[in-house]
Amino acid sequence: MIIYRRLGLLIDHIGPVDMKKHYFYLFPLAVLVLLHHLMMTGCTAMKRLSLGTDQSALLALKAHITSGQQEFLPKNWSSAAAASSVCDWIGVQCSSRHQRVTALNISNMGLTGTIPPDLGNLSFLVSLDLRNNSFHGNLPEELSRLCRLRFVRLTTNNFTGEIPMWFGHFPELQFLFLDGNGFSGFIPSSISNLSRVEKLDLSDNFLEGNIPEKIGNLSALKLLTFYRNYLAGQIPLSLCKISQLQSLDLSSNRFSGHIPKEIGNLEKLTYLSLVTNNFTGVIPREIGKLHGLKVLVLGRNNLTGTIPREIGNLQNLQGLNLEWNQITGSIPKEIGNLTMLTGLYFANNSLAGTIPPEMGNLYQLENLQLPYNGLIGSIPHGIFNLSALRRIALSSNLHYKNFGLQ
Ligand SMILES: *[C@@H]1O[C@H](CO)[C@@H](O)[C@H](O)[C@H]1NC(C)=O
Ligand SMILES: *[C@@H]1O[C@H](CO)[C@@H](O)[C@H](O)[C@H]1NC(C)=O
Ligand SMILES: *[C@@H]1O[C@H](CO)[C@@H](O)[C@H](O)[C@H]1NC(C)=O
Ligand SMILES: *[C@@H]1O[C@H](CO)[C@@H](O)[C@H](O)[C@H]1NC(C)=O
Ligand SMILES: *[C@@H]1O[C@H](CO)[C@@H](O)[C@H](O)[C@H]1NC(C)=O
Ligand SMILES: *[C@@H]1O[C@H](CO)[C@@H](O)[C@H](O)[C@H]1NC(C)=O
Ligand SMILES: *[C@@H]1O[C@H](CO)[C@@H](O)[C@H](O)[C@H]1NC(C)=O
Ligand SMILES: *[C@@H]1O[C@H](CO)[C@@H](O)[C@H](O)[C@H]1NC(C)=O
Ligand SMILES: *[C@@H]1O[C@H](CO)[C@@H](O)[C@H](O)[C@H]1NC(C)=O
Ligand SMILES: *[C@@H]1O[C@H](CO)[C@@H](O)[C@H](O)[C@H]1NC(C)=O
Ligand SMILES: *[C@@H]1O[C@H](CO)[C@@H](O)[C@H](O)[C@H]1NC(C)=O
Ligand SMILES: *[C@@H]1O[C@H](CO)[C@@H](O)[C@H](O)[C@H]1NC(C)=O
Repeated sequence: MIIYRRLGLLIDHIGPVDMKKHYFYLFPLAVLVLLHHLMMTGCTAMKRLSLGTDQSALLALKAHITSGQQEFLPKNWSSAAAASSVCDWIGVQCSSRHQRVTALNISNMGLTGTIPPDLGNLSFLVSLDLRNNSFHGNLPEELSRLCRLRFVRLTTNNFTGEIPMWFGHFPELQFLFLDGNGFSGFIPSSISNLSRVEKLDLSDNFLEGNIPEKIGNLSALKLLTFYRNYLAGQIPLSLCKISQLQSLDLSSNRFSGHIPKEIGNLEKLTYLSLVTNNFTGVIPREIGKLHGLKVLVLGRNNLTGTIPREIGNLQNLQGLNLEWNQITGSIPKEIGNLTMLTGLYFANNSLAGTIPPEMGNLYQLENLQLPYNGLIGSIPHGIFNLSALRRIALSSNLHYKNFGLQ
């Protein structure tokens, strides 16, 4: 298998055009590799397509754009200028080797329209960027033929329908941004086939159901962002095995259950947001193993128990938000170790006891939000010495001497 895979890459690299030349000696292997490749990926890139096909595909796209072309696409994307190649069109890039379209970038052009099936003929396409337009409708199944895709960004459009299962068929895909559209239904489990994917952003859609358990197969994943959907269920434990993960955002969904203690295995995390869900139970002390964490946002859940003192190990933390939970106990003095902290948001919990004087060490602190708790005592003097501090809120606590601050 490994040798086929490697050869597969080689043949891909040579490509359909040059393959003619090499055919005679590669033939027996090529057939095997091709069969294997087809079985593995459903890749049909070996069809004899040409730059002419690419041109018709782009003209079909142009014909499906109903508004927003201003003057330039009609003039620029035109076969009329005989000398001009499709490779010189705005937003189009070709490989110098095969003279086939490898990148299409028509982001930020204010275009409204749909995607024609013909786009699936751009069989050398590696990068597709349609960000920030008003494309709508479903993604045609013919796009599943674009098996060389490494970069897909459909961010901020109006695409609807389910996220097609065939996204799982792009063996090279490293970046998939579908955020800010109208995608609905479940996350297809085929997505777990994307063993090279590094960034996966499905935020701001209408997705429901659970995160597929097989998400743990995405071992190259560095960024996973699902915020603002209707996803539910628990965090799959397999997700805590993605050791490369640096940024995890599950905020504003309907996730429930406990925050798994295995989350402490994600030692490369710098950003973790679970805000606005229905997580219950305690904050696992294993969170203190996430030494690289800069932002930790667990607010607006139903978390109970105390703030684990291990949180003081997160020496790189800049933002800590636990607001709107049912957290009890006192603020651990170890918080005073978080000297990079600029914002601390603990409002609306059931915190008791006094503010630890160690918080006077938080020299970077700009915003301290502690209202709606059961804190007592007085503000430690050290806090008045914090020159960066611009906002402090302590209202609605028990017997707090607030020195005229609100
Ligand atoms: C299309 O626009 C590109 C970039 O502005 C330019 O280089 C090219 O000559 C234009 N082609 C035509 C046919 O207008
Ligand atoms: C597409 O073009 C925009 C500028 O209009 C650029 O910011 C973006 O990085 C490009 N996308 C890719 C994939 O190169
Ligand atoms: C989106 O595209 C429009 C042009 O259609 C542009 O004015 C706007 O700045 C773009 N927005 C972003 C966030 O790039
Ligand atoms: C391109 O794709 C369309 C739709 O999928 C198809 O009808 C057409 O025959 C294709 N063109 C070529 C030249 O292959
Ligand atoms: C999507 O469509 C809605 C109306 O159906 C419109 O208000 C919105 O601006 C559109 N968004 C984009 C990014 O085109
Ligand atoms: C992709 O995932 C689906 C569903 O999980 C599976 O049936 C299929 O065999 C996978 N395909 C490949 C190429 O791994
Ligand atoms: C996913 O990972 C499991 C083990 O965790 C493995 O058995 C399975 O074959 C993997 N699936 C794919 C499509 O890589
Ligand atoms: C949390 O659960 C409650 C009760 O089941 C429900 O009313 C509420 O909408 C849920 N909140 C979120 C953010 O899912
Ligand atoms: C979360 O807490 C809110 C308010 O205390 C409550 O209405 C809701 O039912 C709780 N949800 C769950 C899932 O426990
Ligand atoms: C405090 O949080 C609860 C949910 O836990 C919410 O219903 C309530 O509105 C919040 N109160 C304030 C004053 O923010
Ligand atoms: C953290 O804070 C505690 C109590 O304030 C202190 O004893 C400990 O030495 C600190 N640890 C580090 C690594 O600074
Ligand atoms: C606050 O600063 C003043 C002078 O800058 C210093 O004398 C005092 O000891 C400091 N207080 C605390 C509690 O750090």
